[in-house]
Amino acid sequence: MKKVKLFKPFVSWYAVWNAVWTLRSGQLAEGPRVKEFEKEFGKKFNKEHICNLNSGTTALELAYELAGISEGDEVITPILTCTASNIPLARRKAKIIFADIEDDLNISVSDVEKKITPQTKAIVFVHFGGNNRGLKELMKIAEEKKITFIEDAAQAVGSDYWGKADFTCVSLQAIKTLTSGDGGILICKNPEHDAKARRLRWFGYDRDLKQKQGDTDLLEAGYKYHMNDVNAAIALGNLKVIDKIISHRKRLIAEYRKHGIDAHIWFATVFNKNRDELKKYLAENGIESGIYHYRNDKYTIFGGRKSFPNMDRLENEYLVLPLHHKVSVNDVRIIARVIDEFNSSHSS
Ligand SMILES: Cc1ncc(COP(=O)(O)O)c(C=O)c1O
Repeated sequence: MKKVKLFKPFVSWYAVWNAVWTLRSGQLAEGPRVKEFEKEFGKKFNKEHICNLNSGTTALELAYELAGISEGDEVITPILTCTASNIPLARRKAKIIFADIEDDLNISVSDVEKKITPQTKAIVFVHFGGNNRGLKELMKIAEEKKITFIEDAAQAVGSDYWGKADFTCVSLQAIKTLTSGDGGILICKNPEHDAKARRLRWFGYDRDLKQKQGDTDLLEAGYKYHMNDVNAAIALGNLKVIDKIISHRKRLIAEYRKHGIDAHIWFATVFNKNRDELKKYLAENGIESGIYHYRNDKYTIFGGRKSFPNMDRLENEYLVLPLHHKVSVNDVRIIARVIDEFNSSHSS
């Protein structure tokens, strides 16, 4: 029986060669490869102001910093997401206002609208599994109300609509559609934010001006958030074949949807009242699935559990299914058949 893993890193031979070449080049730290990746990524996805960083979490941390979010500021963010969306908010002691989700697990636009107050400093939109439903509506609302809009696009690379917000945060972590091993990108709409992000990623120095320790005074307290050339080399190698990666994922999405299963660029999701039993049944048939990301109010750092009607209803029902380069269209047919078998044996 073929085993289908839930996630699998994609590393092209170009990435392997690039990494080896860079490792032997003597230039491992941030250098020309980082610059090249910024240029190539921007060209490929038609984006400007690409600032490479060492993780998606860092991109969020910097976005919140540049948005001026500080202690007590209200930020509306989805209840269901990777904790990385919200941990940087907790670290800066922002007042996290969770919004409920809709049936597709993305943030509920109507719940966000209800929770906006004059104190709302920012709205965070997460492409859950790569799903962009709600993005356009929320962006319009944020624009009208002059609220900073932040896209957590960690899972969105390759989807058809992303990267439109004041700040967009991308993850290049191991199992993402495009990986550098670990890495992230911050895309700022405002060039001044981009320039500041570039300083803050290297302690506060502007490396393009060849500023360095000792010679230049520090006016801003940055951190070490930058990407290095080894990670950039891996990303560049994978970027070479990104069209193939994306088109394969899109074929899998189409096949999942044919079987009535919700799917987006990063994963597919099935809903079932007997979720844990279904997970076990899939595993017995060689298919790995998972509860990927939990409601964030389960964690004490976010203030403890509250009531969110849709989240409460769905939290024991959603199950994430595999969607990556090692999954074939036929595997998706098998996964759908196994789920049908399970449902038939559980219908009363
Ligand atoms: C929605 C979301 N936001 C943020 C992150 C953080 O990205 P990274 O792991 O690159 O720090 C992830 C990572 O999985 C994610 O899924």
